[in-house]
Amino acid sequence: MDNVLELQNVSKIYGSGRTAVKASDSINLHVKPGEIVLIMGPSGSGKTTLLSMAGLLLRPTEGRIRMVGEDVTDFGQRRMAALRLRSLGFVFQAYNLLGALTARENVELVLNMGGVKGRKAQERAIELLEMLGLGHRLDHKPADLSGGEKQRVAISRALANDPPLILADEPTGNLDSKTGYEVMELLCCGLGRDQGRAIVIVTHDHRLRDIADRALWLEDGQLGDGDGRFDPRKN
Ligand SMILES: Nc1ncnc2c1ncn2[C@@H]1O[C@H](COP(=O)(O)OP(=O)(O)O)[C@@H](O)[C@H]1O
Ligand SMILES: [Mg+2]
Repeated sequence: MDNVLELQNVSKIYGSGRTAVKASDSINLHVKPGEIVLIMGPSGSGKTTLLSMAGLLLRPTEGRIRMVGEDVTDFGQRRMAALRLRSLGFVFQAYNLLGALTARENVELVLNMGGVKGRKAQERAIELLEMLGLGHRLDHKPADLSGGEKQRVAISRALANDPPLILADEPTGNLDSKTGYEVMELLCCGLGRDQGRAIVIVTHDHRLRDIADRALWLEDGQLGDGDGRFDPRKN
């Protein structure tokens, strides 16, 4: 089976001349279906840059990106957007939910954008939120939810269009460690690996190594083998 995601010699340089910053330096990353990969590293090491390129939100300066067997590096804006909707789910530290919408509506909106409409979208949103233990919070707005609940709504939304790959940038950053672990366990074990979905997680949370298949270490834009070069003192 093809890799869900391949970064081939990917580099990203922000700016130019004297102020240029090489945020990613010849990164190679292959992620298989159902694989859970952690990316760890100090602040400013290029984690968000890497995830943004994997998420087709930022174009690399050099290198190729392949997704589900297809080279997508040169896709235009419209094809990128369609592919993001179909193949990718995003989970962010700040949840990024729409405050004016209820939990159910936040999930429905993404379903609608993916072409699932009306009652079908409603039913699917409810089913997802129930799977994440939020059956009693369907009509609550984000402001009336706890951090863990908000992140579970965000995960429901990321799963809405059943993408083969989920990208999470410090998803437990605003949660206490127990809640963070529980939420990620739910995502990774039940809804990720068991369904053949791959998940790439940027995190400072060492406990997530128990859930992941491998952990990689990023430093100065270079990706190393987490098991060889991993140094927990740097975190
Ligand atoms: N839009 C940008 N323009 C210029 N430099 C940036 C931009 N985004 C990030 N950087 C720089 O790139 C490096 C990596 O940033 P980032 O990917 O956000 O790291 P991390 O997520 O690991 O903290 C940092 O030196 C940061 O200052
Ligand atoms: Mg970051």
